Amino acid sequence: MKHLIDPMDLTVEEIDKLLDLADDIIANREKYSKKCEGKKLATLFFEPSTRTRLSFEAAMMELGGNVLGFSSSDSSSAAKGESVADTVKVVSCYADIIAMRHPKEGAPCLAAMKADAPIINAGDGGHNHPTQTLTDLLTIRREKGRLDNLTIGCCGDLKFGRTVHSLIKAMSRYANIHFIMISPQELEIPDYLVEEVFSDGKLNYEQVRTIDEVIDRLDVLYMTRVQRERFFNEADYIRLKDTYILDTKKLKKAKPDLSILHPLPRVNEISVEVDDDPRACYFRQALNGKYVRMALILKLLEEAGK
Ligand code: NCD
Repeated sequence: MKHLIDPMDLTVEEIDKLLDLADDIIANREKYSKKCEGKKLATLFFEPSTRTRLSFEAAMMELGGNVLGFSSSDSSSAAKGESVADTVKVVSCYADIIAMRHPKEGAPCLAAMKADAPIINAGDGGHNHPTQTLTDLLTIRREKGRLDNLTIGCCGDLKFGRTVHSLIKAMSRYANIHFIMISPQELEIPDYLVEEVFSDGKLNYEQVRTIDEVIDRLDVLYMTRVQRERFFNEADYIRLKDTYILDTKKLKKAKPDLSILHPLPRVNEISVEVDDDPRACYFRQALNGKYVRMALILKLLEEAGK
């Protein structure tokens, strides 16, 4: 059974095919409207979500399927002490495919070992968020027409931000990608990721402290929120939370075809005045998330023979 736990579970060819399928879905919505008739998607969200859960549910509905699930661990048997393994074993009896978000790193991986249905990791702690990455790749490809030859700035909480972790891994496989990591020292990308992605020397990255010093070189600027819920103490969060605020003044030096992405939710890191700039892609990105999840559901159900 094929699951999606880590962005590297998919080859570059598989990703390209998924993005092609998402493009086709966008162009021919009606053609896909009954593809999942009689099928059920369960969304098991042990951690808060708006876009990811609702886009999964909207995706399944647009494929003609049905959805069931819960949106917080308080309203599931986890509150009674049930293990993740037992929960997914049971939910596999009710649903054909499962999207799961959990605060503990590795929980969806464990679920995949126990479940009788394909498991999609919808975010595990500060670790991975592969469907956000598919969303980001589709957005970059649609906005820029390519996934290679790009200078990508990742800005904000690069330590705890799982979307950045997964994006870096996935993009590292395309040609001529240059990363610029923009973060305070306390929020730099974790050592394990440096080891995993950059240690063989094929790909390199720069580490800087301000947006200003690099914005004129960027093709993509990936902004992120400081992940309050993953901090050990509130004082550190308060000190770091407004380190970066992208505004129209800062954008004056940027390339005319810069693409600004953000997985959302935004707190203060992009000022709302930027929303009217044509280079702001984050709401289009949120919409792309639904289409790429439609493509993923179709692919995993097909591979599971369902
Ligand atoms: C992200 C997440 O949950 O990791 N949100 C999302 O899925 N679009 C980013 C975040 O919470 O900051």
